[in-house]
Amino acid sequence: MKKITIAIDGFSSCGKSTMAKALAKEIGYIYIDSGAMYRAVTLYAIQHRLFDDAGEADIASLQEHINQIHIEFRLDPCTQQPQTYLNGTNVEQDIRTMDVSRKVSNIAAIGFVREALVRQQQEMGKKKSIVMDGRDIGTAVFPDAEMKVFVTASPEVRAQRRYDELTAKGDTCDYQDIYNNVVTRDRIDMTRDISPLRKAEDALELDNSHLTPEEQTAWLLEQFHRIAAE
Ligand code: DC
Repeated sequence: MKKITIAIDGFSSCGKSTMAKALAKEIGYIYIDSGAMYRAVTLYAIQHRLFDDAGEADIASLQEHINQIHIEFRLDPCTQQPQTYLNGTNVEQDIRTMDVSRKVSNIAAIGFVREALVRQQQEMGKKKSIVMDGRDIGTAVFPDAEMKVFVTASPEVRAQRRYDELTAKGDTCDYQDIYNNVVTRDRIDMTRDISPLRKAEDALELDNSHLTPEEQTAWLLEQFHRIAAE
């Protein structure tokens, strides 16, 4: 069976990372959450006060800082789950807050941010045997990926999932606030000038609104075995 590259793209809160993680574990591939990298840059900008009171980023200052932002993934020794590190500090929890979610789409629309992160992502994928999820993996990062999946689900289902995820962690949150964030991020992600979110022509489409995690993994494994055996 040949080693392949697997690109999983789609809307926010579609469960892409859950499914990509589960698939990578089943087939012994490395999993990379590219959204976590955009979130880490956003967290860096928040920590360095690069947003004004209206939530606008100081793009010129961020550009000066961009080469000082080092992102890596390390496996948690207990859970074996990948953790995001920003300049040597574990920020896995800090990058999932509503504040970061509100600001990340604007950071992800900046050309020099995308160039820097896409370069790192391509480097991570050089040896294949990788599952990467995001918005532009099948179109811009790995346009030659052997397996591409484009995931969709209704905004209501996605907002409910994010709400359940945050409340399970003990966060207090408002469903309407989350729903608005999901819809706004879809709009920004789909209409930005650089690498907008879109389905690659050769991607398989998966609407997971009514699928259980087990059904999704079974579907992904079926596609993987078919493609890797070709
Ligand atoms: O998947 P996520 O919600 O953690 O992604 C956070 C944001 O980063 C999302 O609003 C869009 C952006 N993103 C991107 O532009 N390109 C990627 N490859 C991954 C994420």
